[in-house]
Amino acid sequence: MAGCCGQINPRQNPGMSCCLRQAGSVQPGTMFLCRRAASRVSDDSATIAEFALAGEAATLALGAALAPRLKAGDVVALWGDLGTGKTALSRGLIQALAGDPVEVPSPTFTLVQTYDFPDSPSLWHFDLYRLEDPEEAFELGIEDAFADCISLIEWPDRLGGYLPPRRLDVTLAYAGEGRTARLAGGGDWPARLKGLSL
Ligand SMILES: Nc1ncnc2c1ncn2[C@@H]1O[C@H](COP(=O)(O)OP(=O)(O)OP(=O)(O)O)[C@@H](O)[C@H]1O
Ligand SMILES: [Mg+2]
Repeated sequence: MAGCCGQINPRQNPGMSCCLRQAGSVQPGTMFLCRRAASRVSDDSATIAEFALAGEAATLALGAALAPRLKAGDVVALWGDLGTGKTALSRGLIQALAGDPVEVPSPTFTLVQTYDFPDSPSLWHFDLYRLEDPEEAFELGIEDAFADCISLIEWPDRLGGYLPPRRLDVTLAYAGEGRTARLAGGGDWPARLKGLSL
């Protein structure tokens, strides 16, 4: 498929149909996702850092702090109840990569928004709340995002067993008037986030 640029309306991109169902017709080297038992946290996941976020500015700042730590192929799962700040954190992260306050709408209805940057990998911002079946994610081109881009995923539970185990989990929660954020991940995530501060 085309690169990671432009906005995608998955309902208007029938060509991005499920790669699993088309497995016999795709090119060698195409990445396939394997369905695993759904897991709430990543394999060998451990809490890396926790933050108290007194207001939206702090949520934006956490996103901005994460931005330079990310690279192509990274998957960041944003957990948390309705309204806990998943989009706000994504906005801070995307604006930091863009270098200016670009508009970052919630992908509530489009399910995915994509962003290209001059100096960093493209980023796909998913909101999977409305996904009815995990396999619908393939119609969004999620395999391409996982292979070549940075993926931010609100409502990652909707992916079920397709949620990659090697990911960073960010869990946002209500705390009085503010929020808390817990970052967890296995593999090299603890080293990559060492010294992270707001
Ligand atoms: N640390 C914070 N303290 C208080 N309010 C916050 C904080 N971070 C974000 N908010 C506010 O919470 C509200 C919801 O934020 P946001 O839309 O980012 O949540 P969300 O988790 O993406 O919601 P949804 O589940 O609907 O996608 C916004 O008004 C935002 O300004
Ligand atoms: Mg949101």
